[in-house]
Amino acid sequence: MEPPRLLIIDDDPEISDYIKTMLTLDAPHFRINILGSARECLEYLKKNEVDCILSDYQMPDMSGMKLLETLRSGGSDIPFIFITGQGSEEVAREAFKIGANDYFTKDIGFAHFPRIINSIEQAVKNREDNRQRRLTVDALKESESRYKDLVELSTDFIYRSDRYGNQLFMNDAAYRMLEATPEEVNGQPWQKWIHPEDIKRTMESFGEMMAKGIDAFNFENRFVSKSGKIIHVMHNVRVLRDEHGTITGTQGIARDITERKLAEMALKEAGKEKNAVFHMLTHDIRGPLSVIYGYGDILKTEGGEAAKIMGEIQKAARRISLLIDDMLAISRLESDEAGLILQPVFAMELIEQAVKDCEMFARERRVEIKIEVEPKTPRIYADSAQIRRAVTNLLANAVNYNREGGTALIRAGAVPKDPMKMFIEVSDDGDGIFEEDLPRLFEKYYRGKNAGKNRGTGLGLAMVKAAVDAHGGKVKVSSRRGEGSKFTIILPVKPGIS
Ligand SMILES: Nc1ncnc2c1ncn2[C@@H]1O[C@H](COP(=O)(O)OP(=O)(O)OP(=O)(O)O)[C@@H](O)[C@H]1O
Ligand SMILES: [Mg+2]
Repeated sequence: MEPPRLLIIDDDPEISDYIKTMLTLDAPHFRINILGSARECLEYLKKNEVDCILSDYQMPDMSGMKLLETLRSGGSDIPFIFITGQGSEEVAREAFKIGANDYFTKDIGFAHFPRIINSIEQAVKNREDNRQRRLTVDALKESESRYKDLVELSTDFIYRSDRYGNQLFMNDAAYRMLEATPEEVNGQPWQKWIHPEDIKRTMESFGEMMAKGIDAFNFENRFVSKSGKIIHVMHNVRVLRDEHGTITGTQGIARDITERKLAEMALKEAGKEKNAVFHMLTHDIRGPLSVIYGYGDILKTEGGEAAKIMGEIQKAARRISLLIDDMLAISRLESDEAGLILQPVFAMELIEQAVKDCEMFARERRVEIKIEVEPKTPRIYADSAQIRRAVTNLLANAVNYNREGGTALIRAGAVPKDPMKMFIEVSDDGDGIFEEDLPRLFEKYYRGKNAGKNRGTGLGLAMVKAAVDAHGGKVKVSSRRGEGSKFTIILPVKPGIS
């Protein structure tokens, strides 16, 4: 603590000096100033900090009592000690009543200086302690009101309930959300405000968490407001315990996620509708297509020009049917309910089927198809229809974008250094792909600049990617303009195991 700054007020300078001398003997650290009147003191205090005043009782222009009164009514808490010649019980009592800290008489030859010093030091210390206490209380009050503001201003729903599930507290946002008053909420079970369909699930997830000893967790459910509005919320709950670990209640924040939920539900609906349209279209188009195809076969037996034309019609019908296959496969693979039908598949089987699919096309284009399958090629678990379609698409491209007399090569084997993966690679002798097209090649409906008048829709590679992704695999392309292209599919032996 800093050395106390003292003021001695007395109209008799000799007495003041004497007091100062005596105090300094025992308390040399005191910093003492002497003033001759109460008015001087008031002036002095306007500009200076003082830790304690020792004042005479009776002075000509203004008494010590009056001085003390003036100070206290102005809110000053400076310790004030009387040193007076006219000591009486009555005066002392009066002095204490208006806020004096102590009271000494000048008589006894000032034998009691140690007591005066003690009194000064005590008064100064008390004042400092009081100030600190006030500061702490103020700080506490402020932080409390800050938290209160936070809770009340929050747009999130903040609540607390006792261990029986009765609400104890909710913030304004909560009352607003539920359109309820505190009386309608507090002291009553929280279930009152939960959507009836969600109560059981909510209690179960609570029970589960508590059984597992997890004290902080999240879950979603729905509130129903007084007027029946349904509010989707995400809860962030904490279990409260006392010092023995016994559960005393819960406390939580719930955030309104209604908008997000509604958007998600709308999206799901839209997805369902899209899928419904897809399936309807494919069935209603596929049926008539197979009729065209079938009658075509009958007509072709007639021979002649008509048979040739019928062949073209059939080819067109087949193209439509393949296109629908790709559209369907992509939409199914991209939706949540992909539902792959996994079964053991050999690379050789897949490749032979893909070659069969493209044979006619290759003959027409005068492209030779070559196959190289390593003997150690692992058998994989896959949805063979999807992977076969993917390989067919790659091979069809290798034929379609090849040159006359070129070769399409399909290779398969174990990935070097990773025998738990299989690769299938399709390469060709075509003109290759422009570099700027490479990054977008696997997008739906994207066709490269080289596609030119070669027929196509831009769905083939998108289907390849969707199928490979669904199996947890990868597809890569490497191509340079003028040097042919190479597409590589890498598939894990079992989806989900790498
Ligand atoms: N082997 C290849 N050689 C050269 N370009 C290719 C090759 N494979 C794909 N491409 C390029 O990639 C583009 C996209 O191929 P994708 O198979 O997705 O569609 P598409 O062949 O144009 O139409 P379709 O839906 O009938 O398959 C093609 O338009 C072509 O530009
Ligand atoms: Mg294609």
